[in-house]
Amino acid sequence: MGIRSKKNHKASYLKERWHNRSEITPPYIEDFTSQFNEREPLLKEMESFASVNKVPILLPSAARLLQVMCRLKQPEEILEIGTGIGYSTLSMLFALNGKTRITSVDANAERIQIAEKFIKRSGFSVNLICNDGFDVIRSFIAEGKQFDFIFVDSVKSEYPFMNFKIQALLKKKGVAIFDNVLFRGYVCGNYPEKYRRSTNLLKIFLNHVKEYPGFTASIIPVGDGLLVIERK
Ligand SMILES: C[S@@+](CC[C@H](N)C(=O)[O-])C[C@H]1O[C@@H](n2cnc3c(N)ncnc32)[C@H](O)[C@@H]1O
Repeated sequence: MGIRSKKNHKASYLKERWHNRSEITPPYIEDFTSQFNEREPLLKEMESFASVNKVPILLPSAARLLQVMCRLKQPEEILEIGTGIGYSTLSMLFALNGKTRITSVDANAERIQIAEKFIKRSGFSVNLICNDGFDVIRSFIAEGKQFDFIFVDSVKSEYPFMNFKIQALLKKKGVAIFDNVLFRGYVCGNYPEKYRRSTNLLKIFLNHVKEYPGFTASIIPVGDGLLVIERK
């Protein structure tokens, strides 16, 4: 990618990203699909908050799929790594009418505080943990705890190091979903030089999950790419 196109790419990425728009789907399709269903007013308010304050959230189309998966799976207990401002947490809870226990972890105290306020307004309850996801995962593994639904939306380059631990935390027939696995399409083709390391780490991660016995793995090109892992 030349310097000029790199700049243009960055500008268009920021514009699309802060408009809560996917970069792997043409904008008119993203707009049509994300406006197809009315979302809860609180979720729409969170989308505006994220856009104005430039805080990353799950893209609305990916949140919709997460909601469908939750409704189909009806998990008893969910683990989320990467609460952010709680947009994905509340998307799951609205889909399940708040009837599922969710433990959600984020290392960023400021974001956890914002999430706490939005969650309070929803009337639902969430076990929010402000800590490094790896520490929390390690202690759950040590306790022998398992979940039937795990959603991971943290730092992409950490995925290869989280992967086996997440699989260990999944119950039989459990489902784990990782966001951003297509990384704006970089894992499928050209990428800017500065993203070489993170793109390569994501590729390693995707190759690992593809070959891990006892699990199936599927990439769904929605949002920034969702990876769905199912324990057989
Ligand atoms: C994209 S944001 C999450 C957005 C959120 N899922 C939503 O839809 O509102 C990623 C979050 O992961 C958190 N994070 C990244 N690495 C982490 C780690 N190792 N442990 C805990 N949180 C982490 C960041 O602090 C950030 O808030």
